Amino acid sequence: MQVQIYRNYDQMSVAAARLIAAQLRIKPDSVLGLATGSTPEGCYRELIRMHREEGLDFSRVSTKNLDEYVGLDPSNENSYRYFMNDKLFNHVNIRKEATQVPDGASADPEKAAEAYEKLCASMPADLQLLGIGGNGHIGFNEPDTIFHASTFVTALKPGTIEANKRFFHSADEVPRHAITMGMRQILQAKKILILISGPAKAEAAKGLLAGVVDPQVPASILQLHPDVVVMLDEAAARDLPAFQQHESADRFGNCYFFAE
Ligand code: F6R
Repeated sequence: MQVQIYRNYDQMSVAAARLIAAQLRIKPDSVLGLATGSTPEGCYRELIRMHREEGLDFSRVSTKNLDEYVGLDPSNENSYRYFMNDKLFNHVNIRKEATQVPDGASADPEKAAEAYEKLCASMPADLQLLGIGGNGHIGFNEPDTIFHASTFVTALKPGTIEANKRFFHSADEVPRHAITMGMRQILQAKKILILISGPAKAEAAKGLLAGVVDPQVPASILQLHPDVVVMLDEAAARDLPAFQQHESADRFGNCYFFAE
């Protein structure tokens, strides 16, 4: 894995957007795997700026999102479909019909998960963007005794409900289930970019880079992928041994690079 540590969230976000923009310039019809949540918001803002000011073109891009809450209609402000429209798709020249999010409003979520798996299998990602939960989840692959391969309906852990209640009026309103891509689709991406920001993610960052592949830290499976870029801000990186011993990191401008 290539690990890049930035001074702060804004610098990390700009670097992430630049990497995605490079992907789109090299391959204008790229398939992007996308994430929701607070972490990628800065990156999406920068992509919108690049579209407006630098002509970054999304007209041939397709996207597939990692997950969606069960029971939320796309018109619900807390649905991930709404988030993606609001934070990115409505502001760039992407074709909405080329953007995919699991159908959380389906009367049969299991069937919707199956359909999403099939759809995703037909469009492997060139670049998959990920955030990470404080407990090490990616997508909504929560800590478990096994890694799930296919898209599935998952029960959110109490800690995830607690972390995500900030978007709702109360914890009671947070859906208890979500449809999430499993590890197969995530690992089939040609390249993976994972963003990690803030002190609440320091433990998860350590778990991701610890060298042990363990379903209790779902992100640790990324160590098996040949092309992963991990971008962190300093707050999230503070517990990484390689960062603490700066001699093992090459300083480049505002960023430390090292390989794990
Ligand atoms: C969202 C997703 C989740 C988030 C994670 C971190 O699509 O896949 O794994 O990336 O919960 O969320 P934030 O960025 O809000 O801390």
